[in-house]
Amino acid sequence: MNIAIVGSGYVGLVSGTCYAESGNEVVCVDIDQNRIAQLCEGKIPIYEPGLEELVRRNLKEGRLRFTTDIGDAIKNSMVSYIAVGTPMSASGAADLTAIFKAAEDIAKSITGYHIVAVKSTVPVGTNDRVREIVGRVAKHRADVTSVPEFLKEGSAIEDFMRPDRVVIGSLSEQATAVLKEIHNPFVRTDNPILVMDPRSAELTKYASNAMLAMRISFINEMATLYDAVGADINAVRRGLGTDKRIGSSFLFPGVGYGGARASGGRGAPAGWREVPRARSRSARECAQGFWRSRHLPQNELRGAQGCRRAADSDRVERVPASQFSAHQVRAEAAGDIRWPEPV
Ligand SMILES: NC(=O)c1ccc[n+]([C@@H]2O[C@H](COP(=O)([O-])OP(=O)(O)OC[C@H]3O[C@@H](n4cnc5c(N)ncnc54)[C@H](O)[C@@H]3O)[C@@H](O)[C@H]2O)c1
Repeated sequence: MNIAIVGSGYVGLVSGTCYAESGNEVVCVDIDQNRIAQLCEGKIPIYEPGLEELVRRNLKEGRLRFTTDIGDAIKNSMVSYIAVGTPMSASGAADLTAIFKAAEDIAKSITGYHIVAVKSTVPVGTNDRVREIVGRVAKHRADVTSVPEFLKEGSAIEDFMRPDRVVIGSLSEQATAVLKEIHNPFVRTDNPILVMDPRSAELTKYASNAMLAMRISFINEMATLYDAVGADINAVRRGLGTDKRIGSSFLFPGVGYGGARASGGRGAPAGWREVPRARSRSARECAQGFWRSRHLPQNELRGAQGCRRAADSDRVERVPASQFSAHQVRAEAAGDIRWPEPV
């Protein structure tokens, strides 16, 4: 199958590489010329275990290529995945500008029946708006679908190659059949491909993010209690997580969670906005703990933990630990601060 990936960031690069690894012909597009120039040489702009080797192998074997020319990428592809960023805008809503621009660019370039699959995390109803853009601009029939991505930074290849489930939000039998064909190699262990309508697929992704965020917020609330009652939070975490009904994932106390995916945004489920509030309380308390240690000797190297978005990942943008402002630390303690976390 010929596939185009629009947006070659974390999700686009990992997905495109894994689709190529499973035998598809994949072209990854990005507007960032530096990124594409690096990728063409097999240089990986992010740290993700196992990714470099996979990219190099698929480049060498000719199943994977990179370009900034979206027209060229789309014209020979039957399916395009939109994997552009959806950062939080000033209002707190997801900024969908890049999604709509990508949809328009794809629609202009299609040369026959085409399937647009939105992989980016988007508020409920975005698929409808993408369908409207594609319908208005495209000269050929195109189906718009939602295929949300559930990978986690730091274990992205494993998560993509062996997902717990694949969610396909589609109103077209033809598109569903093609998307199932692409994703079947990844669910050989009998994990399901769940087909639903696009709105349900969009909400499934938000619900999943919200549930995981609630777990982190919950264990952080427990961590604020442990000081007060003299308990050991790690013992509590183990006691909780070994209950099969609860499970141990996403139950590590820390400074919180962050990055664009922590944003709520329009279309988020009821109660979602409560979650970031719990998160920021935890970050503030950690910051207070940090300030309490100001009596440490001057000019001492300080490190802050929790600076990366995930273990085994090198992404640090918009992490809650950034509340430990380097500027403040310097002013207050004349110390040094190094990012990211020194492990
Ligand atoms: N990173 C994750 O762990 C993760 C997991 C699941 C879902 N998601 C979602 O996937 C989406 C992408 O996330 P990411 O972390 O890969 O973002 P990213 O910022 O790493 O990458 C986005 C890429 O899109 C490119 N881009 C922007 N506009 C473009 C356009 N018009 N045409 C082509 N390329 C364009 C950017 O240059 C950038 O390289 C977001 O909606 C995110 O919420 C991310």
